[in-house]
Parts: sequence; C-alpha cells; structure tokens
Amino acid sequence: MKHYNVGIIGATGMVGQRFATLLENHPWFTVTVLAASPRSKGKTYEEAAGSRWAMTTPMPESMKKMVLMDATADIEEIASKVDFVFCAVDMKKDEIKALEEAYAKAECPVVSNNSAHRFTDDVPMVVPEINPEHIEIIKAQRERLGTKKGFIAVKSNCSIQSYVPALEPLRKFGITKVLACTYQAISGAGKTFETWPEMVDNLIPYIGGEEEKSEQEPLKVWGRIEGNKIVKASAPAITTQCLRVPVSNGHTAAVFVSFDKKPSKEEILKCWKEFSGVPQELELPHAPKQFLNYFEENDRPQAKLDRDLEGGMAVSIGRLREDTQYDYKFVCLSHNTLRGAAGGAVLLAELLAAKGYFD
Ligand SMILES: NC(=O)c1ccc[n+]([C@@H]2O[C@H](COP(=O)([O-])OP(=O)(O)OC[C@H]3O[C@@H](n4cnc5c(N)ncnc54)[C@H](OP(=O)(O)O)[C@@H]3O)[C@@H](O)[C@H]2O)c1
Repeated sequence: MKHYNVGIIGATGMVGQRFATLLENHPWFTVTVLAASPRSKGKTYEEAAGSRWAMTTPMPESMKKMVLMDATADIEEIASKVDFVFCAVDMKKDEIKALEEAYAKAECPVVSNNSAHRFTDDVPMVVPEINPEHIEIIKAQRERLGTKKGFIAVKSNCSIQSYVPALEPLRKFGITKVLACTYQAISGAGKTFETWPEMVDNLIPYIGGEEEKSEQEPLKVWGRIEGNKIVKASAPAITTQCLRVPVSNGHTAAVFVSFDKKPSKEEILKCWKEFSGVPQELELPHAPKQFLNYFEENDRPQAKLDRDLEGGMAVSIGRLREDTQYDYKFVCLSHNTLRGAAGGAVLLAELLAAKGYFD
C-alpha cells in the first residue's frame, strides 16, 4: 500500500489528540503537519497541548517537537506538505464550512469530524461498514468545487454510531420505527472530569443540537445517490432523547424498534453475529474483525468494561428482549472518540486510500 503524508487540523483538541495517538504508528499514514488556532501557532505540540493532554497513552514522541501551524492562515503551505488532512476544530459552523472548502479547493482532501458539512448534498457522510458506496458522490462534489483532487468527506455524529450499526443488518425486516435514548460521555463535549467537575455525580438532560442530529443523520447514512446528490431515506421514523452522563468515554443507547416483518430473537442475533462490511473485506488497518458483539450477560455492555473492544472500533450490544410497545428493545455502546470520532474518521480515510481517492 502507498504511503501518505497527513495533517491534523485541530491537533490540540480532544479529537485531535486522538488522531495523534491513532496515527502514531499507522502503516499507511504519516503525520507531517499539526495545525490549530492562531493561539497555538509557533508553539511545539508539547507546549500547546501538553498541559491539556487527555489521552491515557503519552503524547507521541515523534510529534512533541513539531511546531503548530495556523489552520486558517497557512492553508496553502499545509496543502503543499500533505496528501490530505483530518479536521476536528471548535469553530462556528459557517467558519468550519469555509475552512474545509478552502482546503478542498487548495486540492487537499479533508476527512472531517465536524458537523458543518454533514448535510451538504454532495458530501458523503460515511460509516464505512454501512454506506461505503456513498464515496462515489465525490466525483460530483469535485465538479462543483472545480477541483481535481480536493474534496470533503465526513463521518457521522458519535451518538448514532452505536445504534445505527446495530440496526443496519436488521433493515431487511423493514424497520418501521425507532426510539433511542442516548447516555453520552463527557469527552463528547471535549471535556474531562478535571475540566468539567460539575459533571461528577450529575446528569444533564440536554445536549444542544444532538437530538436533531441523532434523528436526521441515520437517514442520510441510509440514503442513496441520485444524480449529483445524496437523497435521504424516508424511513424509519426515529425519535431520540440525548442525555449527558458522568462517564469519561463511551456513548450508550437504549433502543426500541419495530418491524414490518418481526424477526425472531435468534434471527436478530444471527444478523449481528454475521454482519461485516467492506472494511472487513479489505482488511483495513482500523477495521474491527467483529464489528457487532452481543453479550449474553444482563449487566453488559458497560462503558468501562466494553468501550475499548477491538481498539474502541467495535460496537457492543446486550439485553435484547421483546417489548410491550415496540417489537424489541436492546442496549448498545460505542467508544465516542474512537469509533464515534477520530477512529471512525481514520477508518474512512483508510477506505478512501484503498479506493485511490488521495492519488
Ligand atoms: N469530542 C468528541 O467526542 C467529538 C465527537 C465527534 C465530533 N466532534 C467534533 O470535533 C470537533 C472538535 O471537537 P473537540 O472535542 O476535539 O474540541 P476541542 O477539544 O475543544 O478542540 C478544539 C480544537 O479546535 C481548534 N480551534 C479552535 N478555534 C480555532 C480557530 N479559530 N482556527 C483553527 N483551529 C481552532 C483548537 O485549537 P487551539 O488549541 O489552538 O485553541 C483545538 O485544536 C468539533 O466540531 C466537535 O463537534 C467531537
């Protein structure tokens, strides 16, 4: 496999730090540029992010002395040094849209964690096991942007990455409606218990914009390419409630689901066990071997015990049983900054690399 030089835009942040640790020994990608806000420009990575390092593994030695660039002012220079960038920045939505388009127009592909472009018609929002074919819309996007190489591809919100994978292999039974309550970790807000002490012994029943994303994004992921855009699926009906809970990492979802043709419990378990996708077929470096993992124990999955399964890239499921109002209910869990953020973006980049989109 060819090697690619990559940049991390927003390298000092929570997701940026995850990118740094995931890419430290990547077999295909080498980090050659780190960038963040003008506040960090000119500082070494150690100076800019050392005191807020939130990972359990130390800052990669190879990056400690790298000097941060300005993500906005240095676009042309960054584009000339890398084959593509990962982007995870905390800026206004309009600013992020403009920033990502500026990189794409500088012929630097962007694999983004940000939500700004998730509903741009010709930007693919990809969970690589579910809708890898959506990357084919990049051709139309390049035509619109007037680029040969540059484009933007995004991953979905972290909240949907537990229940949408669990529902995916059940779609053949005709999912009619879904109710999902999510219990989301504080790292999803870029926080730790040190930086957000109010979350110790607490629960906040509101995460701005999260319920809308959780209800709408699955429909784009399950949508189809029509001409030069991705058209959202019209079903199933999805309703959600999203709560912030005192957990460091790992988003849990309690899911209720009804079908046109109600499957048996055994059929559902078989679908989960046998499900695999293009990342498994291509043996992409960050693809979990077993994507969906069912636990028979009544007290699983647990965030602390199960979020790191397969390097935090697998989804854990448990407590499948019939329901009195819906056909079935179950609980699922995924690591929000690995599968749900940086890991999901790295897997998407691996898919794009394997399909030649960075060449
Ligand atoms: N945390 C999660 O689990 C998660 C999951 C999915 C998606 N996301 C999304 O990923 C993005 C980053 O989240 P995060 O949790 O990593 O945030 P964060 O920890 O607050 O980090 C923000 C990053 O953005 C940079 N930044 C801020 N203003 C900037 C500017 N004007 N120009 C360039 N860079 C700027 C910061 O650089 P400085 O250090 O120089 O200020 C820092 O590197 C957000 O869009 C978020 O919604 C997060």
